[in-house]
Amino acid sequence: MQEIPEDYLNSGLLPADSSEPAITLHLVSAQTLSAFQEQRSDADQAWLQRQSFTGKSGQIAWLENGDGVVGRSSDNDLSVLGHLPYGLPEGSYRLAEDVGFVALLGWGLGSYRFDRYKTADREPAKLVLPANADAAELLHTIASTNLTRDLINTPAQDMAPSHLQAEVEALADTFGAQITTTVGDDLLNLNCGAIHAVGRAATDEPRLMDMLWGNPEHPKVTIVGKGVTFDSGGLNIKPSGGMRWMKKDMGGAAIALGLAYLIMSQGLPIRLRVLIPAAENAIAGNAFRPGDVLDTHKGLTVEIDNTDAEGRLLLCDALSMASSEQPELIVDYATLTGAARGAVGAEIAALFSNDDALALELTQLGRSEDDAVWPMPLHTGYDYMLNSNIADVVNSAASPYAGAVTAALFLKRFVDEVPWVHFDIMAFNIRKRPGRPEGGEAMALRSVYRYLRQRFGEGDD
Ligand code: BES
Ligand code: MN
Ligand code: ZN
Repeated sequence: MQEIPEDYLNSGLLPADSSEPAITLHLVSAQTLSAFQEQRSDADQAWLQRQSFTGKSGQIAWLENGDGVVGRSSDNDLSVLGHLPYGLPEGSYRLAEDVGFVALLGWGLGSYRFDRYKTADREPAKLVLPANADAAELLHTIASTNLTRDLINTPAQDMAPSHLQAEVEALADTFGAQITTTVGDDLLNLNCGAIHAVGRAATDEPRLMDMLWGNPEHPKVTIVGKGVTFDSGGLNIKPSGGMRWMKKDMGGAAIALGLAYLIMSQGLPIRLRVLIPAAENAIAGNAFRPGDVLDTHKGLTVEIDNTDAEGRLLLCDALSMASSEQPELIVDYATLTGAARGAVGAEIAALFSNDDALALELTQLGRSEDDAVWPMPLHTGYDYMLNSNIADVVNSAASPYAGAVTAALFLKRFVDEVPWVHFDIMAFNIRKRPGRPEGGEAMALRSVYRYLRQRFGEGDD
């Protein structure tokens, strides 16, 4: 077997000029089935019938000559090819029909597996790329998504704040970015009292990573990601069911880093800043408490109503730092509230923005990228719920209603007038779908990448 070039490793894809013998796959829908059959031999037609092939997505059938036939119900989304890497026998395949970028991406994203703690029992089937595919963008998108997935899937024991720091450093190193990290009590010198308070009870100290990349003359875009490496809830401890998956509470950070990877590898002409506040929300004698009042980077005082509303505390310091240099755009990602999951479920990223046109554009891109995002109201009529009698703001509203909205309104107080998008995300597939294996997931990454590419241009990579 021919050696796979390094950038293709783990992508599920093979280069278009690969000399590997490959099985041909025909993509056939219910609409195109009869036309397809007319071109085949009687034996093939009988075969397809005996295999009950109707052209429905998910169906795989075989022809006399060994070619495969794959059912197709949609045009250009992850479901077209996403089930094939583990649905087909191991080997190399080629497509007989043209498909779009997102469909090809489905093959790559469906090839993922998390094998850090157990050996995989098979290889994914590999797709030889069509000659006209944008191989670089495909490979970079797959690698960025898989970086995000690996970070999320890694348990908290191996993904504490110091590990997350090492990941940011490795990324910075790969792309020649600068990074400054502030650890532990030094956060207080930066006035990041909220990040410090959330993380100070954990053995692995809280920290803030600040990464800078790109030409300083280019438009400034800043990405912020919630990096709670484990959320026990703090003194307001979570019940066991609620705590079970809280290794994923750094999913926002993982998506921010995945997006940064994609931006840098594609060389987008922006000056990128990535801020990753990282902390474990743990319990110890020095833990922050309900009723405590924290000093924040912005100078606002925050009364703690609930130590389990910790993500917005990490973000408030980071967002205030982000907005003080007035970038063109701030994007934050956070596994912020259960309420967002109640509102839009686990498979849609809830989007909040202080710019309606931006929200609309991202929603449309979410559709075309098969990366669902949906706008939610940043309704200032609920601002009163965040009033505190003794501080400028409380970290969590007493009301049982609109929890995702009040969390977003809390953040808004720290971003000033800078155009800003906040994604309240699950960062995890709770069920398997084509191109989306169960486990950590990069939600709303591709929509934002596409937006940045459209707005700021393609770069010269
Ligand atoms: N990380 C959680 C939110 C979360 C839970 C996201 C499950 C996705 C899935 C966050 O830190 C949290 O605990 N939020 C609380 C806020 C409440 C105390 C105001 C919540 O949503 O219950
Ligand atoms: Mn919490
Ligand atoms: Zn959390």
